Amino acid sequence: MGKGIIETYKKFLPINSKTPVFSLGEGNTPLVKSRNVVDEVGCRSLYFKLEGCNPTGSFKDRGMVIAVAKAVEKGIGSIACASTGNTSASAAAYGAYLGLRTTLIVPKGNVARGKLAQAVAYGAHIAMIDGNFDKALEITRELCERHPVELVNSLNPNRIEGQKTASFEIVEELGVAPDHLFIPVGNAGNITAYWKGFKEALESGLSNKLPVMNGYQASGAAPIVDGAIVEEPHTVASAIRIGNPASWEMALRVRDESNGFIDKVSDDEILSTYRRLASDEGIFCEPASAASLAGLLKRVNAGESFEGETIVCVITGNGLKDPDIANEIKPVSLKEYPAEIESVEEALALS
Ligand code: F0G
Repeated sequence: MGKGIIETYKKFLPINSKTPVFSLGEGNTPLVKSRNVVDEVGCRSLYFKLEGCNPTGSFKDRGMVIAVAKAVEKGIGSIACASTGNTSASAAAYGAYLGLRTTLIVPKGNVARGKLAQAVAYGAHIAMIDGNFDKALEITRELCERHPVELVNSLNPNRIEGQKTASFEIVEELGVAPDHLFIPVGNAGNITAYWKGFKEALESGLSNKLPVMNGYQASGAAPIVDGAIVEEPHTVASAIRIGNPASWEMALRVRDESNGFIDKVSDDEILSTYRRLASDEGIFCEPASAASLAGLLKRVNAGESFEGETIVCVITGNGLKDPDIANEIKPVSLKEYPAEIESVEEALALS
């Protein structure tokens, strides 16, 4: 383990003798067992798959390493993507590693500060457009049709191939697929990838069953749930602020094939779960990532029983990605003191 996903999962991936094999350390992320929230859920066991532990802090690295490897194999020296931030940070990192030109088309004012800082540091060319993610994706698709540039959004099937490896890791660690998977949904690439991974794990005998797939959108950006394109999506979870998901049909297919659900959670539910994951479980994620557990808690609060079940919530990105939202958390205690032990002793005693 720790070899990266190309090396580890070669036989499940579109890798041949001409594909470059490399890694920035993606994959092999922790599956952490809940100690506190599990009691409220009342299930047998609850796990968090910490995808924020990937090299650029989100699950995107699993797909990006394959998308970029295939671009290099084809002799393409330029990659591009539209992004709410994480795909762009990941593309920029892998592009930098392989010496590719990376162009990012992002919605102005809609990318969390940490993600933009990453893209800048990795040396990408960044085009901020006066429009939302859906518009950025439309432009990027056309740009890649007109020019010899590889599109590295999840419309690129190699992205899905790489991202499906998270399911293999879960199955390997648990010995079988969980009963339920809960996952945030934006452009719907990741839910598509996980389902593909679980199906392949079943076919290859790694697991003897499939999970029920439960995808969660944010209420103000829930086109799949509401059954209509959202022209002006809004949610505090900027990563999933998407009104016309590219893999919409696939998400519905995953829902139906797995007897699952695609539902929505409010910004209040997302933010309270985001704070709770940090303060009760020691997991600091970005707001969009909390949609998975927020969805599970919504169902529990509505009276659904998960007794005896094993559940995995995918935590898609690291909390440091979005410092502005993090700074809105009210500190338990944060005071200034003179630089003397007697004064600071008071901080120890605060309840
Ligand atoms: N969580 C995070 C942290 C994300 O960045 C995204 C998507 C999702 C969940 C949803 O995954 O789109 O496959 O359904 N971020 C994309 C981006 C859109 O541009 O970084 P999805």
